[in-house]
This record gives sequence, C-alpha cells and structure tokens, in this order.
Amino acid sequence: MIRFEDVSFAYPDQGSSIRDLSFELERGEFAAVIGANGAGKSTTVRLADGLLRPSSGRVLIDGEDTRNSQVSARARKVGFLFQNPDRQICKNTVREEILFGLRTVRSEEGESALQARAERILAEFSFTGDEEPFALSRGQRQRVALASIFAAEPEVLILDEPTTGLDYRECCHIMDQIRRMNEERQVTVMMVCHDMEVVLDYASKALVMAGGRLLAAGPVREVFRNRELMEKASVLPPQVISLGLRLGDGYETADTPEAMAEAVLAHRKKEGASDE
Ligand SMILES: Nc1ncnc2c1ncn2[C@@H]1O[C@H](COP(=O)(O)OP(=O)(O)OP(=O)(O)O)[C@@H](O)[C@H]1O
Ligand SMILES: [Mg+2]
Repeated sequence: MIRFEDVSFAYPDQGSSIRDLSFELERGEFAAVIGANGAGKSTTVRLADGLLRPSSGRVLIDGEDTRNSQVSARARKVGFLFQNPDRQICKNTVREEILFGLRTVRSEEGESALQARAERILAEFSFTGDEEPFALSRGQRQRVALASIFAAEPEVLILDEPTTGLDYRECCHIMDQIRRMNEERQVTVMMVCHDMEVVLDYASKALVMAGGRLLAAGPVREVFRNRELMEKASVLPPQVISLGLRLGDGYETADTPEAMAEAVLAHRKKEGASDE
C-alpha cells in the first residue's frame, strides 16, 4: 500500500533530511515511525502523504507515484492527522467541519449522501454535531479532526504524533478508534509516535529512523528488544521490555505488566515448590 524506493529529500537550502529510504507497508498494516528529534519522521510521513515530493527515488501509494497522482485522488485515499488539530479545524460546528471535509473529497456523491455520511460518523464518535470545535478540549478537538478524516473512509491513515498533549484517557480513546479503523476496514496506518508505550500497545511494525535514514524495520517487540538498535536510535524502549531484558531468565518475553506479573508469580510458585 505504501512503498518507498530509494527516497531522498532535502528542504530548500538544507542538507539532505532523508537519505535512501526504502521500505514497504502492506494493506492493513499498523506501523509506527520512531526515532529521536530531527531523525526525519515527520518528513517521511509528509512524503508518504504527497505533501512533499522526493528529490530522488519514488513514493508509491497503492502503486501510484505521488509525483503523478492528483491531489484530489490522493486526498480521498490518504487521510492525514496533524499533531495539532487546530491546523485542521476551520468551521464553527462539528457537523459543518465534517461536511466541509466530505464536500472537498467526496463531492460527487451529492449533498444528501454526504449529510447521511456525516450523521453516521457523528454518532460513531458520540458528537451531536452542534458542538463548537473551539470550545471543546484539546482531546475532543483531536477527535473532531479524526472524525472528519474517517468520514471520507480513507484507505491509508497517516498520523504525526496523534496523542501528544492528551491525557491517558483521551489518548486511549483516540488510539482505540484508530485501531478499530485498522482492524475493521483494513486501513493501513503509519504513525509517528514518541510514546513507546503507545507504540507497543497499538502498532505491529516499527520503522526506526536516525539521521534521515532507516535503521531497521520489523515487528515492534523484536525492535524494542534489540538493545544496540535502540541505543543507536536514541530510543528508550517501554519499561516492561527493559525490565524483562534486565531480568533475563525467561522474563524477557513478558511484554505487558500483566504478563510480567504472571511470570513473576509463576516463578515464585516454582521456587516455593522446590524449597519444600
Ligand atoms: N520545513 C523545514 N525546513 C527546513 N528544514 C526542515 C524543515 N522541517 C524539518 N527540517 C529538518 O529536517 C530534519 C528532519 O526533520 P523532521 O521534522 O522530519 O524530524 P522529526 O523526526 O519529525 O523530529 P521531531 O521528533 O522533532 O518531530 C531536521 O534536521 C530538521 O531540522
Ligand atoms: Mg516530527
């Protein structure tokens, strides 16, 4: 669904920000892009969205080169959630906001079909539609932006730090909705995220970046357990993973606090039995 072929990119008057990036994501994959500040994560997802064009190499979305595809066709296929929802919201009510997005990418469906779509998505996100976006909390505004993207039913969802500034509950709420899109509709997700706990909970694949290059791409747990790689990328793995690696002795496979607790209890029981 997303394919980078030897992609390099430089901002005007800057050295290259992205160098020789090659990877692919299958339809329905949930990938996280991780790495230190300035590693090139945002640049990479903007290249995937077609907001930026590669200086060399190709980016293909569902087989189509972003240099040749039309903005309108791409906007329908790919939804992009910015870190700051206020960059995306421009209308006075949530209903108007959602209709605005729909009229832009699905105008051929006709007004009544779009209104029906909007009502469906409002119900799904538990909005009445009459709320004023700018009177809502930050987390709720993020959900308005997400609802507006979901309404158009994109096949690819690109997220640049979707949970920054949200409290734990809001974060779970947003991420659960994204997971549902991914699981129920096979939407391909590519998410930049600084919160490794969120990455562990939701993503299945990790793309690890440093200095504009891809260091590794693989299953999230495998990537997190690779100490050398994590150090090279200046990424701190989730605490439960670090703890498991430190303990060794079978604990390294526990990748949730619950699994760790189970492993400790099982170990204790075994020790107790051998003492007797
Ligand atoms: N608009 C821009 N103009 C010039 N250089 C830029 C621009 N945006 C990013 N860069 C540079 O490109 C490199 C990669 O930046 P990018 O924003 O992609 O990193 P990032 O991994 O998203 O970082 P962060 O974690 O801080 O968001 C950095 O060296 C940055 O300074
Ligand atoms: Mg960034």
